[in-house]
Amino acid sequence: MSSPAPGQGPVPPAEVGAIEDLRAAVGLQITDDQLVRTLAAGLSDVENLLREVVRSDVRAVQDAASHLVEAGGKRFRPLFTLLSAQFGPKQDNHVVIAAAAVELVHLATLYHDDVMDEATMRRGAESVNARWDNTIAILTGDFLFAHASRLVADLGTDAARIIAETFGELVTGQMRETVGPADGDDAVDHYLTVIAQKTGSLIATSGRFGGMMSGASDEYIAALRRFGELIGTAFQISDDIIDIASASDELGKAQGTDLREGVRTLPMLYALADADAEPRLVELLSGPIAEDTLVKEALELLRASAGLERARETLSDYAQRARAELAALPASPARDACESVADYLVARTH
Ligand code: IPE
Ligand code: IPE
Ligand code: MG
Ligand code: MG
Repeated sequence: MSSPAPGQGPVPPAEVGAIEDLRAAVGLQITDDQLVRTLAAGLSDVENLLREVVRSDVRAVQDAASHLVEAGGKRFRPLFTLLSAQFGPKQDNHVVIAAAAVELVHLATLYHDDVMDEATMRRGAESVNARWDNTIAILTGDFLFAHASRLVADLGTDAARIIAETFGELVTGQMRETVGPADGDDAVDHYLTVIAQKTGSLIATSGRFGGMMSGASDEYIAALRRFGELIGTAFQISDDIIDIASASDELGKAQGTDLREGVRTLPMLYALADADAEPRLVELLSGPIAEDTLVKEALELLRASAGLERARETLSDYAQRARAELAALPASPARDACESVADYLVARTH
């Protein structure tokens, strides 16, 4: 009997394992064997490219750059790029390059973000600023962004412009968060703008790139971009909720970092807007919290607050709006997989 043609026959266990990991990390439900094969093969190519990029003759660069690549992470952005590439007819290495590039931009922003947030843990490992120092973390972030730009240069001028605009938007979101709302600004509107910029923008570009690189129609590319922006915003809301609701070892990062930095996320803003809010919680949220015991107290009060529940409702609303965008795409296993991500983001906060 001849062996099955590529892409036929049962999916090898290693590939199933890769998708099972993704299922656990981003809630992806894929029942279609062919799609599992395609995504697993694409992710493995992305992984190889990422490892190639972080190679350097300078030992310090290589060590710091490979630190977080090897620590893992969900690879949600490259995965979404690969999924989005299912909506076009063309499958070549441009899809993989685009997927690796969005992960590199993400990674670069994490190196910088951990400096700004004075974070000690990332992806279950020591953050680069904690393991080495701020200077190393900043320079390595720049190195990774430079390589993302180099990769995108091979994808054409449109792609190069889009990734530059995206990075500009992302940085603007980080700046807005740092500066905080101006007097008279609505704090919740400010938060929603910040997260659409700092997180939604890159996930929107991930979807847009997948559509573009696979030669999908303009209509599909636009839908993937809108879905990405909304799901990215939902993703950040769910991240901010589980930062309060889950234990540190499940997060892979230290809990309560926002409280320490005095950054008010959605559950906190809603708690502060609640007329029946616990006065002690309002007092604790009035500025950055330095002491561990006070962070713990604030987390406990937040867990019991109406603000947390209201943030879950806003999250559901974004997930619903994201899901509605998928109606513009053809029914397919890839569309079902996108839908499962929307459902999961809500489910993971309970
Ligand atoms: C972390 O992103 C920053 C946010 C936008 C919440 P991810 O949650 O995708 O981080 P990794 O890539 O899995 O580490
Ligand atoms: C992560 O933001 C960086 C960007 C989205 C650009 P956060 O500071 O909110 O996320 P974590 O909690 O450190 O992952
Ligand atoms: Mg942070
Ligand atoms: Mg931050």
